[in-house]
Amino acid sequence: MAEIDYSKRSFNYYPTNAIVFAKCIDGRWTKPEVTPDFNFSLHCFAGVFHYAPSCFEGLKAYRGVDGRVRLFRPDENAKRMQSSATYLDMPAPTMEMFIDMCVMCVQANWEHIPSYESGASLYLRPVLFGINPQLGIKSAKDVMFAVMASGVGTYSGGKSLTAVSAVMSRNYDRAATYGSGGYKLGANYAQSLHAYNLAHKMGYRELLFLDSATHSHIEEFGSSNFFGIKHGCYITPNSPSVLPSITNKSLRKVAEEFGLKVERRTIFVDELETFEEVNSCGTAVVITPISRIDDKATLESGTITREYRYSETCGPISEKLYNRIVGIQKGLEEDTYGWCMFVNDPK
Ligand code: PLP
Ligand code: COI
Repeated sequence: MAEIDYSKRSFNYYPTNAIVFAKCIDGRWTKPEVTPDFNFSLHCFAGVFHYAPSCFEGLKAYRGVDGRVRLFRPDENAKRMQSSATYLDMPAPTMEMFIDMCVMCVQANWEHIPSYESGASLYLRPVLFGINPQLGIKSAKDVMFAVMASGVGTYSGGKSLTAVSAVMSRNYDRAATYGSGGYKLGANYAQSLHAYNLAHKMGYRELLFLDSATHSHIEEFGSSNFFGIKHGCYITPNSPSVLPSITNKSLRKVAEEFGLKVERRTIFVDELETFEEVNSCGTAVVITPISRIDDKATLESGTITREYRYSETCGPISEKLYNRIVGIQKGLEEDTYGWCMFVNDPK
């Protein structure tokens, strides 16, 4: 295979060898299959085409400095998918099945795992969706679970830790107060697509969502959680309508290890001006520093009501957190928490 220049890749779909799938029909799971066929044949009345009984996950396989391949906390992704499926009242894979199929997918795409030196990774996208034909509004009875992979570069396509701009407004919400924001449902992302497109057209990389009830406090970015640093504190929103990020959960541990005070609480918009460092965090974005947040009454408006400026480079504390977490993922630092799971070379 020709050498791939991963520095030219962003967070995108790039062809790999195979996917792994299994179906749950009438409560019984089929044996997981590895296939080079990337097309599913589905009944056109399948629930997924109508009422969005669909959830997904995202995790990465990293090639470490020692050449070994690691998955980062796949048990957490399995649990989150189970919680998303429970919310949708549909069947979910067991934790063992979820992890086994992720491992099978990594092994089937072994030569697509980027080298350690490239700084890139093999992104796994487990998806779970309703396949039984239906017309009435009901949860899916039968589901397909598939794990796909793509060798990805950074989320922005630039160098790691490149700062990006964000915008927030009060006329698009991601998640309702008592809605589904705390689950990783496809439907949540559908709600953000139009607003994202508008933000991108205006030159912003990120979109920061506020709480839908009052639009007075920070929830999260469209792709990731929010965290800010000030006065030796790691501060991140505490809201049931924010996705419980595995990266954020891990960073809170690492922050404590570094002697930072960790606060999960309401962050009012006005507090934005007091942060020394502001970042997005997640599997895809890792830690991405935010250089500026523009506040607009409406996303379409040409007027910026207020702007919050941060450094154009990653702040020192955020960089330390980045180095520790990425160090664990890539075998540069001792995995004192037992977060990594090794995947063996299939050959
Ligand atoms: N918030 C949103 C909306 C996301 O899409 C993601 C990505 O999965 C995250 C947060 C970060 O979650 P995690 O760290 O588990 O990838
Ligand atoms: C991830 O970070 O794994 C995600 O799923 C975010 C993606 C939707 C941009």
